[in-house]
Parts: sequence; structure tokens; C-alpha cells
Amino acid sequence: MYEDRRRPYARFKDISVSERILNTVFLLTIGLGYLMALANLYYTHTGLDGKPGLSIEDVVISYHGSNNQTRLGAAINGIMKSNLTYPGDKDVILQWIKNGADEPEYNEKIAPILNRDCVKCHTPDINPALPDLTHYATVSEVAHSGGESIPTLVRVSHIHLFGIAFILFFIGKIFLLCDINVYVKRVAVVVPFAAMLLDILSWFITKEISSFAYVVVYSGALMGLSMGLQILLSIYQMWFYSGEKTDG
Ligand code: HEC
Repeated sequence: MYEDRRRPYARFKDISVSERILNTVFLLTIGLGYLMALANLYYTHTGLDGKPGLSIEDVVISYHGSNNQTRLGAAINGIMKSNLTYPGDKDVILQWIKNGADEPEYNEKIAPILNRDCVKCHTPDINPALPDLTHYATVSEVAHSGGESIPTLVRVSHIHLFGIAFILFFIGKIFLLCDINVYVKRVAVVVPFAAMLLDILSWFITKEISSFAYVVVYSGALMGLSMGLQILLSIYQMWFYSGEKTDG
């Protein structure tokens, strides 16, 4: 036991060239996978706020939802606008959505407009396929936008946790063969895991508190960055470095 502890730990120069090649193709593939994940992120979230490119507002809308992105708001701004008897009612409806689309204001201001201009088509008896605009419960459904649902978040979370844990574990295992300060190394193997957990946790929090979208973005970036550094340093030391062995 005692002698075991004094034996230096393995470094990249202790492993065979075949193993280095295997490590390298694995790390490069993971790196490519990560870039694809970023591209996927871009395509799924971009432009949700109506502006090109990926912004913090897009992230907020994805997880938290947005009152500007409701089906009722979009319809009344677009093809359904012409059904209004008084064009000014558009702003009344949009303002109500913005205020949170609650029931008292619905009864007071919105129901009269919808009953006059909309329910002649939007009644289940006439058009079951259209949103039912005859009472609050169903109007409320198209007047709110809740962002990502909890079941969806849970599904994506468990896939991420299992999948990314494996990836980070194997990247970390390879990275441990690097020849760097042992304390830096001990922290470095924890950072991407912690960042991933924070990222996923903040998806759920962003659903309630929209400003947590920043935590989603920064923790996601931190995970990518720490993973990328482990990959690059590993590949560098595997092929271009032959230092003295140290413990750790
Ligand atoms: C003449 C019939 C008619 C009237 C009147 C009408 N609508 Fe519609 N509405 C439709 C039809 C048809 C669709 C489906 C359009 C489509 O899917 O392209 C629709 C779709 C909608 C949708 C769903 C859009 C989506 O996200 O799929 C909303 C919300 C809506 N209307 C709101 C209203 C409001 C509010 C009014 C009253 C100002 C109104 N409509 C008046 C026929 C009508």
C-alpha cells in the first residue's frame, strides 16, 4: 500500500501511441459534437424574439415564455385584425395580454370584444378546430405562453445528465493524464460537471424568474469552455509535450 502511494501516476508519455490515437479521435469527435450542439442551440432558439440572431431574450422566451409571443397576440396583430369592428380594440387586447391576461379584466373589457367580433367563427359548435373564444379558460390558453413545459424540461434534463456525465467523465479521465498542477487539476475536473448542473437547474428557475436566463447562458458557456480546455490541453500534451513526472 505505502509503496503504491509513492508510485507516480500515469502521464500521457506512459501510454501507447495506439491509445493516444484512440484518445485523440475520441476527443476530436466530442469537440465536433459540441460544435454541432451549439449550432442546434442556435437553430432552435434563434429569432424567437422576432429579431435575427440569438439573444438573451430568445433564451427567456424559450424557458420562461413571453406575453408578446402568445397565439392571441400574434393573431390579433396579424390575420385576425381585420375582424375587429373597432381597430382600437387591438391595443385593448394586447394590453390585457401584457398585463397577464387575468379574468376580471377579461370579463370587463375583452369578452365584449370577442363576443361581438370573434365568436361567430370561434365557437366549438361552428369550428371545433379553431381556438374556442367563448369563455375565459380557453381564451386564457391562447393568451398565455408558458415557455418550455415541465415535462419537456424533465425529459431534456435526464437526457443531458446521463449523456453529458458520460462525456465529461471520459474527457476527464484522459485529462487526468496531463502534467499540470495537481490542485488546478482537481478543480478542473469538477468545473464542467458543476457548470452542467447549474445550467440544467437554471432552465427550471428561468421558467419562473426570467433573469435566470443569464445563468443558463453563462453556465452553459462555462461548461463548453472548461470542456474545450480539457480537450485542447490533453491533445497538446499527448503529442507535443514530454515533461517531468509529478504526483497527482
Ligand atoms: C370569419 C371567421 C373568423 C372570425 C370572425 C375570426 N376568426 Fe380567428 N380564425 C379564423 C380561422 C379560419 C382561423 C385559422 C386560421 C389559420 O389557421 O390560418 C383563425 C385563427 C385564429 C387564432 C389562432 C391562430 C393560431 O395560432 O393558430 C386566433 C388566436 C384567432 N383566430 C383569434 C381571433 C380573434 C381574436 C378574432 C376576433 C377579433 C377572430 N379570430 C375572428 C376565423 C375567424
